[in-house]
Formats: sequence, structure tokens, C-alpha cells
Amino acid sequence: MTMEPEEKIIVTTDDVLDMLDDLFERRDGQWWDGFYADREKPVPFFRSAPDEPLVSGIASGQLEGGRALDIGCGNGRNTRYLAEHGYEAVGIDISGESIRWAGELCAGCAVQPAFHCCSLQEYGGAPGSFDLIVDSGCFHHIKPHRRQQYLEKIQSLLREDGWYLMTCMDLEAGAAISDYDAYRDFSMHGGMGFSEEKLRRVLSPFFQIEQLGKMQAPSDPDIFGMPFLWAVWMTKRRGQ
Ligand SMILES: C[S@@+](CC[C@H](N)C(=O)[O-])C[C@H]1O[C@@H](n2cnc3c(N)ncnc32)[C@H](O)[C@@H]1O
Repeated sequence: MTMEPEEKIIVTTDDVLDMLDDLFERRDGQWWDGFYADREKPVPFFRSAPDEPLVSGIASGQLEGGRALDIGCGNGRNTRYLAEHGYEAVGIDISGESIRWAGELCAGCAVQPAFHCCSLQEYGGAPGSFDLIVDSGCFHHIKPHRRQQYLEKIQSLLREDGWYLMTCMDLEAGAAISDYDAYRDFSMHGGMGFSEEKLRRVLSPFFQIEQLGKMQAPSDPDIFGMPFLWAVWMTKRRGQ
């Protein structure tokens, strides 16, 4: 009798996706736990400042409250801001360490956001249950073969006329690699940078892009904005 090598066999497309996950360098919850272990590190988003588009959206009345989901919430700086400005806010992250930090920072808050340690893919929110979904710096870590599932999950969680706000790195801040390059060495090189054209191509099958531009860099230190980040406001395409 011949022995089979002790690896999974590939039967379905899901098996192919799992195999690609396995081959990639690990950036799982444990990796991110290490990233968040030293809270004094000079990481720009370790500050307690909310993203500039959210602050503008609240100030202009574009964001009117309701339920908000913050994907890859980190220390919860945006989740907390939304909870303080009329949203029933939920923050999720694959790093238990970041979720612990987010909970501690909200300890004395009048309105408590809910925090869960899980990936977007695992999150069990009801379809159409969010008026606003925020993704600040998570999308550029999603491997190209998982993007479709990621965006479809957001599509399903978003209410019919809800907002999806996503910020991600441009080609100068992020790795200037192609999707194929990521598979040549099975690495996202710390986060993939996007050109405007590529962003439009990967997002528009799933969402209506209402506004796409570089983030403002405010002088106010209590507001977070970096000129090398794209900020994209999206709505669901009708019928999706
Ligand atoms: C660049 S950090 C941004 C953190 C936070 N949004 C902020 O701006 O302060 C990206 C975060 O996404 C989280 N993350 C990565 N992949 C994720 C996934 N599939 N689901 C949920 N969180 C994820 C990481 O653990 C990390 O905290």
C-alpha cells in the first residue's frame, strides 16, 4: 500500500483558499498581539484620536447615528468616538491584546461600545444590521484571494442605505507590490499599497464609491489624518 503525504488534499475552491492561507507568512491574532504588546511604541494609530473623515462626517450630519461596526478596531479609538457620538458601536479585532486595550480605554466611558475578539469572517452579526461600517487600516492586510469574501461580508452586514468608510495605504506608504507579487513570496510586506485605479477596480464590483481621496492631515493633534492614506466613502450597490 502506498502512503499518502500527510497534507490536506484539495477538493474544492475553499481548499485552494485555505492552502494559500497556509502558505502565506502568518499575520494572525498572535502576531498582532505581539504588535500591541508595547503600548508606548511610536505607532501613529496608538494615539487616542479618531479618524478625520469620521469627525467630518459627524460634524456635517452625514453620519446620523445608529449601529456602527469598526473592523480591526485596534485600541478602539474610532469605536469609542462613535459610541460618544450617537452610535451603538461594536469593535472587532483578531488580536485579544488590542481588544483588552480597547476595553481598558473605555472603562470610564458613559456609553460602552461592545468589543469582540474575532475576525470579520467569524463575526456573526445579522445581515443589514449596521448603519455604518468603518475599516481603518484593515483592508490593506487582507490577502488578495480573501478580498471577495471580506467585501461580501461587509456588503451583507451593511444596511441598504448605510455607509462603508475604508482607509488604506497608498503606494508610497504601503508595499508597492502587485497582487501576483504577494504570491511570489507569500507576503503582504507589512500591508499592500493601492493606486487609485486599483482601489476602484477591487471595490466597485461590491460597492458604489461615493467619494475617494487622500485623507486630510489636520493640525489638531486630537484628530487622526495622514496624507498617504486613502479614505473611501461607499454605499451598497442597489439590489446587493
Ligand atoms: C493597522 S491596524 C489598525 C487598527 C485600528 N483600526 C486603528 O486604526 O487604530 C489593523 C488591525 O486589523 C486587525 N485585523 C487584521 N485582519 C483582521 C480581520 N480579518 N478581522 C478583524 N481584524 C483584523 C489587526 O489585528 C489590527 O489590529
